[in-house]
Amino acid sequence: MVSTIGILGAGRVGTAIGRAALGAGYAVNIAGSGAGADIELLVDIVVPGARAMSARDAVADADLVIVAVPLHKFRTISPGMLAGKIVIDTMNYWEPIDGRLDEFERDARTSSEIIRDYFPEARVVKTLNHIGYHELETDGLPAGHEERRAIAVAGDDDAAVAVAMQLIERFGYDAIYSGPLQTGTAFQPGTAIFGGRHSADELRAQLALASGQRPLSGAQLA
Ligand SMILES: NC(=O)c1ccc[n+]([C@@H]2O[C@H](COP(=O)([O-])OP(=O)(O)OC[C@H]3O[C@@H](n4cnc5c(N)ncnc54)[C@H](OP(=O)(O)O)[C@@H]3O)[C@@H](O)[C@H]2O)c1
Repeated sequence: MVSTIGILGAGRVGTAIGRAALGAGYAVNIAGSGAGADIELLVDIVVPGARAMSARDAVADADLVIVAVPLHKFRTISPGMLAGKIVIDTMNYWEPIDGRLDEFERDARTSSEIIRDYFPEARVVKTLNHIGYHELETDGLPAGHEERRAIAVAGDDDAAVAVAMQLIERFGYDAIYSGPLQTGTAFQPGTAIFGGRHSADELRAQLALASGQRPLSGAQLA
């Protein structure tokens, strides 16, 4: 069972996820690129209730780790630190922010597969990348609500995916499994899913379209 979440990145996304996680009843450790003391004041104000720590300490006792650093900085995270951990990769390749990164330009795979290769012993799940950080806290709704949004989840490790999906549900969203990590290409920047608002049925239909299948009918989706 997940009780403590470690967040790498105390920026826009990391702090929004931190608040959502605290609201959902999790304990939250959060880290920037330096010592915990460097972000203590920020965390007290922006994510009250979270514990500001170094990256190493933030992940050490975490049951689930969220990586929310700019993509061009992912190699500043030590891969050994995440060995064996369930890791949610929220990162996107976005040239205006990241600059041109040849390894992502040349590689047709989802950015999360490149991340997985860098963290070979981590149990990487791709999700939370296609909702704006400013929407995460405002758009969550109880299960069954007719306006509840859906969020896609891709990953190769079934148990890790199940944990990530439970987190999404507790944040107030329908978690929709898209398939193995490679299916994350369906909800990267530039896709119909990225940045749009979708119900569970709409998201399943978009994922089916992206995978080359015919969209499932309402009855099949029920
Ligand atoms: N904008 C959105 O709505 C959105 C939504 C979903 C996903 N995303 C993706 O989420 C990622 C983060 O975006 P953001 O807007 O939150 O970035 P941001 O505001 O620039 O914050 C980045 C944070 O990462 C920290 N950091 C850098 N290297 C680190 C390391 N090695 N260990 C721990 N922390 C480290 C930075 O700390 P320092 O200040 O100490 O360097 C900073 O706190 C991006 O890949 C983005 O594409 C964005």
